[in-house]
Amino acid sequence: MHSSAQLKRTIALSLIAGASIAGLALSAGSLRAQVHPDAKTGKQIAEKLCVGCHIVGAEAAGAAVPADVPSFTTIANKPGQTAQAIAGAIVIPHPPMPQIELTREEIGDVAEYILTLRTTP
Ligand code: HEC
Repeated sequence: MHSSAQLKRTIALSLIAGASIAGLALSAGSLRAQVHPDAKTGKQIAEKLCVGCHIVGAEAAGAAVPADVPSFTTIANKPGQTAQAIAGAIVIPHPPMPQIELTREEIGDVAEYILTLRTTP
């Protein structure tokens, strides 16, 4: 015979099990979202739309650009830089930069690409 204390414990345990299954499903979902951004597509977009002002590739480190425009390598190497923060900076219009029509996916791709230029751990 179950005492009511035992029964409560059983219910609590199955609730915890249920919650962790839900947690697992959630983290699998965000993992998929992280796998999706494609740095290769991002590079193509950046080479088309951003080179006018930014030094895009790592290889062009010595190239001349307008003095106050950070290179993508510089952006990538900001302390604590993340793809999310870069994506946020792309979404916020920065004055000389024309309003560039990018989808959320394209912004994610470009941010992912910029982060590949990071050389500091
Ligand atoms: C017309 C010139 C111009 C173009 C084109 C341009 N940018 Fe910029 N961008 C700037 C300037 C100038 C700054 C620095 C000013 C500022 O931070 O407000 C900047 C800053 C940034 C920053 C923030 C850097 C920081 O300090 O964190 C990001 C990220 C960025 N640009 C991404 C892009 C991407 C991605 C593209 C192409 C889709 C692009 N930019 C195209 C001029 C440009």
